Amino acid sequence: PTGPRVFSGIQPTADSFHLGNYLGALRHWIRLQDDHHAFYCIVDMHAITVEHDPVALRERTYRSAAQLIAMGLDPQRSTLFAQSQVPAHAELAWVLNCITGLGEARRMTQFKDKSAKGGLEQASVGLLTYPMLMAADILLYQTEAVPVGEDQRQHLELTRDLAQRFNTRFGETFTVPAPLIISDTAKIVDLQEPTIKMSKSASSPKGIIDVLDDPKAAAKKIRSAVTDSDAEVRFDRESKPGVSNLLTIYAALTGRKVDEIAGQYEGQGYGAFKVDLSEIVADFVAPLRERTDTLLADRAELDAILRDGAAAAREVASTTLATVYDRVGF
Ligand code: ADP
Ligand code: NA
Repeated sequence: PTGPRVFSGIQPTADSFHLGNYLGALRHWIRLQDDHHAFYCIVDMHAITVEHDPVALRERTYRSAAQLIAMGLDPQRSTLFAQSQVPAHAELAWVLNCITGLGEARRMTQFKDKSAKGGLEQASVGLLTYPMLMAADILLYQTEAVPVGEDQRQHLELTRDLAQRFNTRFGETFTVPAPLIISDTAKIVDLQEPTIKMSKSASSPKGIIDVLDDPKAAAKKIRSAVTDSDAEVRFDRESKPGVSNLLTIYAALTGRKVDEIAGQYEGQGYGAFKVDLSEIVADFVAPLRERTDTLLADRAELDAILRDGAAAAREVASTTLATVYDRVGF
């Protein structure tokens, strides 16, 4: 693989990725493979910062790998691996913990949000140190660019600060990673509550399209998506969030322009528009589901893919870690 190094991670915290994950992040992972040297990590160690079920976690790690490959991630071109299989992540995270201020860590908005839910006393220390583990994930691979959504921007800023701080204090060691701004990033909202983002923690399964949904069920969710009463297919996130979301999905899955699609349905109400999109979405999920099932049926092969990925990742990571250990006096 050649080109700038990119790193990205995703938590194995659901049985299926949803359309928001795919359109907002994972389809870019696939595209970046063409001209980048990519490291893609299933971050199972991040997934235990909140209470979890071990059996489900192991299964979801497999399912995540299978879905990514089904989407087009090519393990021959990109390094696909599970975080826990590369011990350098935890080892570097410790060193980074030791150069991070407690106040600095506590100021991270994700920590504040997540710890506020159950109360600070109940939050795990892992939740607090999560950003330093994320920094280790990125810095081990001398990553030049990180595709990040808005939700991870602050953590990437901290990663850059820690890289610079380490380099200044102990000598040039880390590449300082830049955010990779993806111009056509699609923020997908809930189909039933178009004011909140599509998320695995959605209140109703009807609001969220899983990439492993049954094609008929997915089509039905599109047809029953909440829109508005003025019956005009037009992009306006403020006053027409439901229709705008459907237009965003339509455009992203077909590679067409939103305006051109809106023009096609002018004066026709929402009927034909929704029916066409429901078919586009069904055609999108159908092969993904099939390929994922095929991949999941051969665990030995998936194990081999993840083992090979981890071996390749370890080679790069251990080189960086050796320099770090040397620099800090180990
Ligand atoms: P969730 O919000 O369902 O918990 P994650 O936080 O695990 O999903 O997000 C994984 C990736 O998918 C991140 O890069 C995030 O920015 C992206 N993502 C999640 N939800 C959406 C969405 N509704 N629209 C666009 N991108 C999303
Ligand atoms: Na999120």
